[in-house]
Amino acid sequence: MTEHLNIHDDEHVPVMAREVLNLLQPKPGGIYVDATVGMGGHSQAILERIQPGGLLIGVDRDKESLEKAQARLKPFADSLRLIHDNYKNLPLILNNLAIRPVDGILVDLGVSSYQLTSPERGFSFQSDAMLDMRMDRAQQWNAADLINNSSEVELANIIYRYGEERLSRRIAAAIVQEREKAPITRCSQLASIINRSFKVRGHQVIHPATKTFQALRIAVNEELQGLEEFLSEAFGFLKTGGRIAVIAFHSLEDRIAKKTFRRLAGQCICDAPPELCRCPRQALGSLITPRPMTPGPEELAANPRARSARLRSIEKL
Ligand SMILES: C[S@@+](CC[C@H](N)C(=O)[O-])C[C@H]1O[C@@H](n2cnc3c(N)ncnc32)[C@H](O)[C@@H]1O
Repeated sequence: MTEHLNIHDDEHVPVMAREVLNLLQPKPGGIYVDATVGMGGHSQAILERIQPGGLLIGVDRDKESLEKAQARLKPFADSLRLIHDNYKNLPLILNNLAIRPVDGILVDLGVSSYQLTSPERGFSFQSDAMLDMRMDRAQQWNAADLINNSSEVELANIIYRYGEERLSRRIAAAIVQEREKAPITRCSQLASIINRSFKVRGHQVIHPATKTFQALRIAVNEELQGLEEFLSEAFGFLKTGGRIAVIAFHSLEDRIAKKTFRRLAGQCICDAPPELCRCPRQALGSLITPRPMTPGPEELAANPRARSARLRSIEKL
């Protein structure tokens, strides 16, 4: 059955919303957490389904996004608590609100299209804005600080590890050479340094700066640090039968979600031969998506940004 989603074309379109709703099955009176509210697309879809009597706790570390979400979600104000914080503080947030346990948790990882396309946020290699990339603008250091103050080896490691960029060393060397002349402060300046590091010209599937910009963004916002601990702790807040759903946009975060959920489902997550395996093998949850779900052709045609999305879910036993 094709369910109608009441989401307007001019607002941020949430990725894999139909699949998320099918997994979380939000019900009237239920308590849900959207750990990454962004522009409130998923939150709106959940809020529409938990009336009457439901509650949604929405978290985002980006204050501007949260303000926009608040305006969008105004009709649901009585069923909504929006919190400006890092989702890694979810245990504290839920304890302070005296809320426990919850029916479902959504984590839509990464950067929002609002952040990417707002030139002043300095995320995009296509803009001439100041290099920034902070999701939380109260954070003390930004992408320009990272680019101008890290050693060449540190830069190469970040670009290789978080961008899976083959040319990481060459790009790091080019950055260090350029910053000796003058600090690198603008997105376009960094993009052209990276561009010059690529010898092969002509048609390329993605822009040469894509992977390096992804790597810097992940490093600036410490996106992978503590993700596994957060997912395990969040799982602990679910009711029996409650579900957590995670949308990842690159293999590094998807791998963390996969490993965490497998461990919680009592599966082996080590590479050791079976006789040497020391994995706890205690099933606290049941995998709802043994393989990740991906967007359907209709969504991909309408929203190319969804192409790398991977959705995984686990249910608490
Ligand atoms: C892909 S967007 C979410 C879009 C949202 N689901 C919607 O429908 O509009 C990811 C959001 O997560 C937020 N975010 C990323 N890491 C976070 C963290 N550690 N704590 C809280 N929010 C975070 C970002 O600021 C961004 O707004």
